[in-house]
Amino acid sequence: MSALYDCWLRYDTNADSLNKEILAENLASVSVENGDKITASAVEEIERFCKALGLPAPQKVESGATLRLVAGLAAVEHKDGYVIEKSSHGFMVAGESSTGLLYGVFNLLQGLSLGKTPEECCKMDYPRNEIRMINQWDNGDGDIERGYAGRSIFFKDYKFMEDLSRIKDYARILASVGINAISINNVNVHFHETKFITPEYLPMVKRYNDVFNSYGITMYMCVNFAAPIQLGGIDVSDPLDERVRAWWKEAAKTIYEAVPNFGGFLVKADSEGRPGPFTYGRNHADGSNMLAEAVGPYGGLVIWRCFVYNCNQDWRDRKTDRARAAYDHFMPLDGKFADNVILQIKNGPMDFQIREAVSPLLGAMPNTNQILEFEVTQEYTGQQRHLCYLIPLWKEVLDFDTYAKGEGSYVKKMCDGSLHSPKHAGLAAVSNIGDDECWTGSPLAQANLYGYGRLCWNADLTAEEIAKEWVGLTLSTNKAVLDVMLPMMMTSRRTYENYTSPLGVGWMVTPSVHYGPSVDGYEYDRWGTYHFADWKGIGVDRTVATGTGYTSQYAEPNASTYENLDTCPDDLLLFFHHVDYTYKLKSGKTLIQHIYDTHFEGVETVKGYIRDWATLENMIQPDIFALVKERLGIQLENAREWRDIVNTYFYRHTGIPDANGRKIYP
Ligand code: GCU
Repeated sequence: MSALYDCWLRYDTNADSLNKEILAENLASVSVENGDKITASAVEEIERFCKALGLPAPQKVESGATLRLVAGLAAVEHKDGYVIEKSSHGFMVAGESSTGLLYGVFNLLQGLSLGKTPEECCKMDYPRNEIRMINQWDNGDGDIERGYAGRSIFFKDYKFMEDLSRIKDYARILASVGINAISINNVNVHFHETKFITPEYLPMVKRYNDVFNSYGITMYMCVNFAAPIQLGGIDVSDPLDERVRAWWKEAAKTIYEAVPNFGGFLVKADSEGRPGPFTYGRNHADGSNMLAEAVGPYGGLVIWRCFVYNCNQDWRDRKTDRARAAYDHFMPLDGKFADNVILQIKNGPMDFQIREAVSPLLGAMPNTNQILEFEVTQEYTGQQRHLCYLIPLWKEVLDFDTYAKGEGSYVKKMCDGSLHSPKHAGLAAVSNIGDDECWTGSPLAQANLYGYGRLCWNADLTAEEIAKEWVGLTLSTNKAVLDVMLPMMMTSRRTYENYTSPLGVGWMVTPSVHYGPSVDGYEYDRWGTYHFADWKGIGVDRTVATGTGYTSQYAEPNASTYENLDTCPDDLLLFFHHVDYTYKLKSGKTLIQHIYDTHFEGVETVKGYIRDWATLENMIQPDIFALVKERLGIQLENAREWRDIVNTYFYRHTGIPDANGRKIYP
């Protein structure tokens, strides 16, 4: 297709340096043992690779192939793991399952495209996390909630797409990094989408499901908790009402009869206006267990989101704290959920800010299945116009020590199931793709999708390693390109933070669109997203001593570290404490000077990105180069606006001038 479209599956970034003869020899013929739809996808990918590099298509043979593909090799111990090794006539890729084989083939092809010899590609690897899920927030009309990359590839005018080619390519992209689960519609299930689980739509659900299945991906759908009212004509959706339970059982039966491998439901209930069990005085265990009972006989799962809080809060009430909500609602229910219910918990207690504390609910429920939720779509992080490589942020979360079971209780151990040995564990994330030519609005945003998959595969990979892989596969294998890209990507999260909201306080964005500066945009409103800035100080007091008591939700020593002003890290200072502008940070600067300095610095760094990117002009595919150049220009303009509005706001509130006398608009 095009370099923009092919993402990290171009296979040609190093084409000039590859030894085509050796490649052609090794890929001369291919054989498949224990073939199925997934191994067929693997063979197709090998053909695509050959085409991209101008090699002859491999011959399909029964035996004696130069590349032997084996699915279901018992010697590969780990679920969906693979091994690449020498075999009698050439090389063998063998998977524990056909999905494992597919992962092995992607890995081999990527390695070869980067210039590795087949010998150097030999390895054994496996996904460390069981559930590696992507959530689409696509609406039936084709709009994508928080989407910044065009329209939906799944729906248009409340219909499923007839042409499945783009969906198939998406499945390839996802499988190439090991994603094995997808939910295809928005968690906010509106009127039309409620019907997606009815016979009218099930034939199309099945077609989508089959495409994903042929890449080892299980498909889920979001359901409306009030569906029994809308679709069943029952006057309630009370989870303990027998009529409601029977309705869901029948609905599940109909779905599984039409779509036998269907994954199950993802549910947003009692959150931001969505219906849920609270209406009937029931709790989240009652609600989710009812759905679990319906899909259980078919091996289905219910993934239940913990993004539950009071979105009608009064700012004068200083005790109600949105950050507390998930823990307060769910913690008391530990052990009450069915085996096939999984709680999905956002990485932070607020809402995917550029920096916020790690959610204290992660790892805190020893007797409950939990998965971690990230947001790949850059809702609060520059909406794919700004470069913001999110892997460092996610690594911080995964490496966070919850102390839930003493030292070493990292979040990543909750995800891989080794912390509490639950029945199910893993990760989920909100997708950043749409029907844009490059899928993600900016080609650089592809790195976040790639990196999310890689972390699902192995959370111990570093952000640098992932960036290097992605640059080589997507942009170029030229070292000069990496030398520019690596520092840009690795500093980009801090840069975005520098010119936006300081020290963990978050928000300060234009309400509802969440783009562009509005320091008081969410102040004095109902969403519970305040910073409480006045002329003297700023920040949210979440201490037990004088604030909302949120710090007590952490295990020790984290609780004390955050409670105590002396030990609370600067980066999260305003998330946990309300302090004066003259307060001295651990860095030695006053808070106000920190705000000024970081905002000036943020803009300067973006200017540097633009200069650095310009040096790559002849080293990068022209379409990619031009699109990124355009996006960086927008980023600079936006960063300036952020700097000036934020600095002016604080200058006017405090009356304290910048120590370095730089231009602030009074
Ligand atoms: C954020 C986002 C919403 C989304 C919600 C969710 O609040 O702005 O668009 O629906 O998260 O995660 O459910």
